[in-house]
Amino acid sequence: MKKTILTGLRPTGNLHLGHLFGAGENWKRLQDDYEFFLEIADVQALTDNFNDPEKVRKNVYEITMDLLSIGVDPEKVHFFIQSQIPEIAELTVFYSNLVTVSRLERNPTVKAEIAQKKELFGTNGESITYGFLGYPVSQAADITAFNGEVVPVGDDQLPLLEQCREIVRKFNSIYGEILKEPEQILSNTSRVKGLDGNEKMGKSLGNAIFLVDSEETITEKIMNAVTDPQKIKKDDPANPDVCMVYYYHNLVNKKNLNTVCSECKNGSRGCVFCKRELIAAMNEFLNPIREKRKYYEEHPDTVKQILKDGTAFAQKRATEQMEKVREAMKINYDID
Ligand code: TRP
Ligand code: SF4
Repeated sequence: MKKTILTGLRPTGNLHLGHLFGAGENWKRLQDDYEFFLEIADVQALTDNFNDPEKVRKNVYEITMDLLSIGVDPEKVHFFIQSQIPEIAELTVFYSNLVTVSRLERNPTVKAEIAQKKELFGTNGESITYGFLGYPVSQAADITAFNGEVVPVGDDQLPLLEQCREIVRKFNSIYGEILKEPEQILSNTSRVKGLDGNEKMGKSLGNAIFLVDSEETITEKIMNAVTDPQKIKKDDPANPDVCMVYYYHNLVNKKNLNTVCSECKNGSRGCVFCKRELIAAMNEFLNPIREKRKYYEEHPDTVKQILKDGTAFAQKRATEQMEKVREAMKINYDID
């Protein structure tokens, strides 16, 4: 019997290289060995984007196509849409009794997100909704509705998993040993730096290369990437370790890395040339992904069918799991 993996992502924008190297590559390795449920977390996306439902809806399809184009295999992975499994919402309600408000406020991931919101909107916390504060509870339901045993996540998500385990323990201690405590698998490159040298690539930071970026966009972004500021003239020797162009050569142009490094250090390589070379390598790297994506863009019914099949499969699991939960909680009434 294969163990069950459950992971998810919020459909709020297209995937970038950070997602690919941070999570996607990891998922592709795991998809052979596990029963793999991949949740497109539209309900969670709505906690931040409830006033923009069109954005969330559109990105459900966008993200699914992005994932398919990088090689997440729908024959092996059950792609499903969170909102279409009502058991998740039901479980969330029951779990919300098992966690205190102050515990949620102390959750480091939630805390960081609240701090960020305060900075962005200058509010004093009054704009924090009940739904947002409670999303870790809902995420615990995401995992346990399918009996998820292993959850591959980046380190920023670890407090959410810890919160899930606490809820599981509390549930089991009150209602009986029904739920499993999930373990994590850390994504091995959980961070990819941005074009600007920021530690993290992110949509909101404006420093990301998206899988859907066109050749022109790639050219523009790489031409503006941060290089060694000490290098003024074309033949100045420089330090590749402080250069984002070199950093990306290392991701997509490994075969020429030694040349790039030594030529940069001895001053025989100009930055414009070096960027041009990276642009070519990046396009070569992205071309097979673009081609696969084009196929799915031209076959929207195939994409819908993948979501439909995955959601139906996930629904079966959730139905079984919920029966056990209702029985344990003594809310299985024989009245129908
Ligand atoms: N919170 C995750 C993120 O922002 C997405 C997510 C939703 C998730 N449900 C999940 C991750 C369940 C792991 C397990 O990336
Ligand atoms: Fe960076 Fe290349 Fe310029 Fe060196 S030559 S500083 S690696 S862009």
